[in-house]
Amino acid sequence: MVATASKLKVRNVQFNFDKVQKHWILNSAIATHFVNSMHVVFPEGEKFFVRSVRKFAKDIKDENLKKEITSFCGQEGVHAREHQRFWQVMEEQNLQPNWFANFLKTTAFSGKYSYENISTSLLNKIQPRLGDKFGLSVTTALEHYTAILANALFHEPIANNDHIAPQMLELLHWHASEEIEHKAVCFDVLKEVDDSYILRISGMGLATILLWNYLAIGQIYFIAKDKDKSIIKMPIESYMLLKTIVFGEIGKGLSKNLLSYFKKDFHPNDIDDRYLIDNFFKDKSYA
Ligand SMILES: [Fe+2]
Ligand SMILES: [Fe+2]
Repeated sequence: MVATASKLKVRNVQFNFDKVQKHWILNSAIATHFVNSMHVVFPEGEKFFVRSVRKFAKDIKDENLKKEITSFCGQEGVHAREHQRFWQVMEEQNLQPNWFANFLKTTAFSGKYSYENISTSLLNKIQPRLGDKFGLSVTTALEHYTAILANALFHEPIANNDHIAPQMLELLHWHASEEIEHKAVCFDVLKEVDDSYILRISGMGLATILLWNYLAIGQIYFIAKDKDKSIIKMPIESYMLLKTIVFGEIGKGLSKNLLSYFKKDFHPNDIDDRYLIDNFFKDKSYA
């Protein structure tokens, strides 16, 4: 990779969550809790990304990539903080996000018997640093997911101010933009640390299981906690969400871009979507 000046910018933006209604997407409990689950999964995941990539920062020779690691950690830190700030609103809605966050920490990240700790310590025993490299590989795969979901969000017609509370939509678009902006950082670090195809693809295996299972668990948990949901509307709301995710732009984006990760010579910048970020940031004071 050719070293150029880092293009990543840490935008220390704070969103105002006043007056966000409980079912802030399409007035649908099902759709809202799918994304509410992300408000908890993302911050815990992002702390894991930062832990994983920092383990290798000192081994990186490319000076530009070193700078990008610092900016990546800064961007993920602000993402985690802003999503976590929304927990206060969810708490006031009696959704108790902290219970789910603790469950996630205990079973997926940082807990003694979590996926992260068990896989890292087991693999490090087989070969020094193999577990750390595997953690970085899982992070790299999850970064591919966030980048392609971000791309899909910009193409999704439902993602507009008529259907989604504007300040929440801006939070999602800001996060999506920075995910596209830094999508190659972990990939380039993994490539420099260990260029093994098997390592990269096995990380995608665990990443896929973790991402979709925990998003589903969170969604079911918040639906169960929600005393204001309409049981009558739930079948149609579920159908609408499934239709959007599977057959809408999100489904199309996932099916088109997920498989590209399996190409041997894949690089995240093969998907040229920088224009989406430029478009979003062009009238933003914090750009
Ligand atoms: Fe992020
Ligand atoms: Fe990211």
